[in-house]
Amino acid sequence: MTAKIAVIYYSATGAVHKLAQAVAEGAASTGAEVRLLRVPELAPDSAIDENPLWRQHADATASIAQAAVEDLAWADAFAFGTPTRFGTPAAQLKQFIDQTGGLWREGELAGKPVTAFTSAYNRHGGSEATILSLGNVFYHWGALIVPPGYTDPAVYAAGGNPYGTSLVAGPTGDDQDTATLAAARHQGQRLAQITIRLLAGGRTDAGEPVAATASQGV
Ligand SMILES: Cc1cc2nc3c(=O)[nH]c(=O)nc-3n(C[C@H](O)[C@H](O)[C@H](O)COP(=O)(O)O)c2cc1C
Repeated sequence: MTAKIAVIYYSATGAVHKLAQAVAEGAASTGAEVRLLRVPELAPDSAIDENPLWRQHADATASIAQAAVEDLAWADAFAFGTPTRFGTPAAQLKQFIDQTGGLWREGELAGKPVTAFTSAYNRHGGSEATILSLGNVFYHWGALIVPPGYTDPAVYAAGGNPYGTSLVAGPTGDDQDTATLAAARHQGQRLAQITIRLLAGGRTDAGEPVAATASQGV
């Protein structure tokens, strides 16, 4: 039994991209089939050009496939990554999420395991708020939130965030980076392992349409 995992992220300057790669590696280590996908950019070139790091990262990752809502139908489980933007997810990821109404109505998102990760400049700059904010979406989908919790020493070594791996992008040393990427690998591995177990037991609510009354307003 294997699983199909979609790691879907937005990254302007590369921090979340590093995490996404690590989450994908962790998931793939279980034998899962993994798609690493970036959501489309929304900012105009003029804004990107003002920040050399943003421009450099955009050019360097242009060959990574862009996420489409069909990837959510394909996947058995999802991992979402976003920078922290004023304590919330980036608009680019939210724009992608806001295109999932149809899949939600068809019940394609219900019962699928999901996890989230982020990066913020400051250690207390809102990482947890960002991940919890994504959690609101997952509740609406009826998805099964798979947080890292404190399920591995790697979580503690990375600063002990049980909600989701968070990379502090401010002035930290390489050790911190290495520990955080290890926690991200654990998060991806755990998501895949739980998904494989769930699939072996047989999901029951995938593809069940959302109750008719609930489809109003989307
Ligand atoms: C508009 C904007 C808002 C941000 N808000 C926060 C914030 O609330 N807290 C924080 O610590 N960092 C904040 N940052 C910094 C980013 O979260 C941080 O640099 C992150 O590592 C970027 O990830 P990326 O390299 O994947 O784009 C903000 C950056 C921008 C551009």
